[in-house]
Parts: sequence; structure tokens; C-alpha cells
Amino acid sequence: MRPNEEMKLGLYLARTGYHEGAWRDPRVPTNGGLDIDHYARLTALAENAAFHFVFLADHQSVIDDHATIARVSRNDGFEPITLLSALSSRTQHIGLVATATTTYYQPYHLARLFASLDHLSRGRAAWNVVTSAIDSEALNFDGEKLPDHDSRYARAREFVEVVRGLWDTWQDDAFIRDKDSGIYADTTKVHLLNHRGTHFSVRGPLNSARPPQGHPVLVQAGASTAGIAFAAEVAEVVFTAEPSLDNGKRFYATLKEKTRAAGRDDNQVLVMPGIVPIVGRTKEEASDKLQRLQSYTHIDVQMGVADLWLGSVTNLRSINLDSLVPATLPLTNSIQSRQKLLVDLAVRQKLTWRQLIRLVSDSNGHLMVVGTPAEISSAMVETFDQHAADGFNVLPPIVPDGLKDFVELVIPELRRRGKFRSRYSGQTLRDNLGLNRPLNQFAQRTEPSERGIGVFASPA
Ligand SMILES: Cc1cc2nc3c(=O)[nH]c(=O)nc-3n(C[C@H](O)[C@H](O)[C@H](O)COP(=O)(O)O)c2cc1C
Repeated sequence: MRPNEEMKLGLYLARTGYHEGAWRDPRVPTNGGLDIDHYARLTALAENAAFHFVFLADHQSVIDDHATIARVSRNDGFEPITLLSALSSRTQHIGLVATATTTYYQPYHLARLFASLDHLSRGRAAWNVVTSAIDSEALNFDGEKLPDHDSRYARAREFVEVVRGLWDTWQDDAFIRDKDSGIYADTTKVHLLNHRGTHFSVRGPLNSARPPQGHPVLVQAGASTAGIAFAAEVAEVVFTAEPSLDNGKRFYATLKEKTRAAGRDDNQVLVMPGIVPIVGRTKEEASDKLQRLQSYTHIDVQMGVADLWLGSVTNLRSINLDSLVPATLPLTNSIQSRQKLLVDLAVRQKLTWRQLIRLVSDSNGHLMVVGTPAEISSAMVETFDQHAADGFNVLPPIVPDGLKDFVELVIPELRRRGKFRSRYSGQTLRDNLGLNRPLNQFAQRTEPSERGIGVFASPA
């Protein structure tokens, strides 16, 4: 039984909306990408509705091919940690989830950045740990191709271990700041990490006090075999794409089972699939909204996006688009779980390439519900009640209007059904998600030698 029966909600904060065509709608601000007020307005809508967090995705490169780049809005925005730092001063309760890759940062960088975001926001930071998925990212970091899938996860595992260690290098009460004695920091409570591993050598300590949450919340989104194993070990929130209820239930059960097998409490891992809600007061109105968005999406964009999510192993421009999608594609080194999900869906529904391309450009493989507030709520409640989700990452197809529709029409319906709260229950993101504050690994150890105390322990 889950500790509370209310769903968690996150908002995917997209510049113009999750649908590729949204930016062309007359109601969408064209200069929103680099306008802090635009994001502040969207975040305020989510905060007033008591969403648990806003989430920013990220890549370390332009991800589009030449034909697509002219027609998409995504290359005109902020780096996530910077944007969320700015938003932290305009908000009070909502969690702030930034994506950052373990493949191209160093652990010390991210330990500092997320510790700072957690302090700035008084305990509302979370890190979406990703391993990068696109070869074009490698081109910006001295490489030509991404390292292979499993070795990216091996590095990610060590990376997270180092970051968590760095967050613990100062005990919670290490800074005493005593003017009378002149002692600012208690050196018995600062520790060297002294990490020496396969990928990193990091001495520590961090040059920042322990974050208010102990550790910012760890989010993870891989769903391949290696991705699930990693999530079971470290993740506290898991993002996923699950358009089918049966697959969703299987994923949920597998993840919870593997979490228990890793020696963790499975209530401390929240599964939050994406949902693209296309809300209409009637079904026809909702379908019209979708059709309008589709009419804005050029075929080059549809093909470019589909090619990416299928793992860059097809050349869609040379395929007969009216032929059926085959049961297998060459295994990708990119996002393996999404490739499998899309191919399985196409085979189950007997889709042609043209139909699959349209589906990907509408929702990227996430659950999309086109309907009335009651229909959208029913789909969410069913997914939640059937243990395929602990909550949802809401991906409004267009902003601000799609978000307003969700907040004004769907959330009241969820509340009527007793599935969503009206106010924040705590100060930190951990409090609000029902996640425990991690103990400090150094404070647990009894022997100074075990505690890793080095030159900082006693002045020579
Ligand atoms: C909902 C969702 C959001 C994701 N966001 C990002 C992102 O912003 N940046 C990124 O590099 N990867 C992102 N990913 C990809 C993964 O985090 C992961 O590193 C990659 O998909 C490999 O996953 P696999 O284990 O499924 O093959 C996302 C995945 C999902 C399901």
C-alpha cells in the first residue's frame, strides 16, 4: 500500500509546449524561450495549483538535423540549472528539477551546482540524472560518438556515488559561525572523500555546506535493462514514457521489485510517466486542438523527431512511408527503451511509418489523452489506481493555454475524486514527495579513520 493515496504531479516546462508545432500557434509568445517572465508565469500557474515540481529537460548540443533545425523552437532557451536558480527566487514551494548529464560533466561541478540550487531554493532542488543520448553531444566534448550505452551507465553509477559523497563532506552542523571564539567551522565535522575509482579521482570536501535536503532529490529516466538497474539503486523519482496500461503496470512492478532487491524501500521510489493532455470541453474540441497543432508541424520536423526517438538508425527519407513498420530495428546506442516502446507500439497497432511518425511527433511515445477533463482524469486515475504510476509528469502540448486548461479543468476533477491535493504539505521537495532525508554517510561512521578525516581534522 502506498503511504498516501494522492498522486504526485510535475510540470514539464517547455518553451512553447511539448508539441513540436505549438510555437506557430498565434497565442504562443514567440520570444518566450529567453524570457524569464514567461517561465515565471508558467511556474506560478503550476505552483498555485500545488504541483510538486517543474522539470527542465536538457541536451549538451543542438539535437536536430539540418532539415529540422529551421522549424523547431527548442534551440532558443536557457540552460536548466541557471533558469531554475532564477525561478527559485520567484517561487516558494514548488520543486525545481534540472537535467544534467553524467557523461560530460565532472561530479564536483554538479555537486556544487545542485548544492547551490538547493540552498537558493531552501530545499527544493532535484537532479534528473541522464547519460546523454545523442552523438551530436559527443562532438562538443572532444569526441565523435557517444560512449556505448552500458559504459555510460557504469560512469553514471560512479558519478552519483561521488556526488552523494561530496554532499556529505560537511556534516549538517559543521558550520558553527561563532563570533566569540572566532571559529567558523568545526573541523571534526568536515571530511575528505578521497574517492579513487575507475572514472574519477576526487578528494573533496565540497566548498559548500550540506544541502538543506541532505541530498537534492535524485530523478532518473532510463528504462533499458541497465537503466532500470541504475534507477533501482539510486533513483527517488523515475520518469518514463508508457502509452499502454499493461506495459506501465509491468514497468512499475519491475522497478519496485528491483528496488526492494537492491535493499531499498520501494515507497521511496516514485514512478511518474509522462502524459500529454489535450483538453477540450467536448471531445470534438479536443480533437480540433490536436489537428491544429498537427497542421503546424512540417513533415521534415516529424521525420527528424521520429528519427531521433527511434535511435537514429533509420533513414526515414528513403523509406516508403506507407509500408508497415517492421518488428525489429537495428539496436540503438541512444535511448534503447524508447526505440523498443515505439516499435512494439507500431507492431501492436499495425502502423505504417507515416502513422508512427505522426504519433511520435505528437507525443514522443508518451501517453496522450485527447478528451474532456473527465476523460483525462479517468485515464490518470486508472493508471494510478492500477499501480502503473505514483503520479505524472504533465506535458502540456502548448503553453500557456494547454497548461491553463489542465489547471482549470482537469485538476479540479482530480480533486473531486480525492486524487490531488490543494496545498503544499511541507517546505522541502522531499517533504512534499514523502521522501526521507538521507543520513550523512560520514556521521554514521565511528572511527575517525573510517570517517575519512584528513588534513582538516587537526591543525599540524
Ligand atoms: C521522460 C524522459 C525524459 C528524459 N529527458 C532527457 C533529457 O532531458 N536529456 C537526456 O540526455 N536524456 C533524457 N532522457 C533519456 C534518459 O535519461 C537516459 O539517459 C537515456 O534514455 C538512456 O536510457 P535507456 O536506459 O532507456 O536506454 C529522458 C528519458 C525520459 C523517459
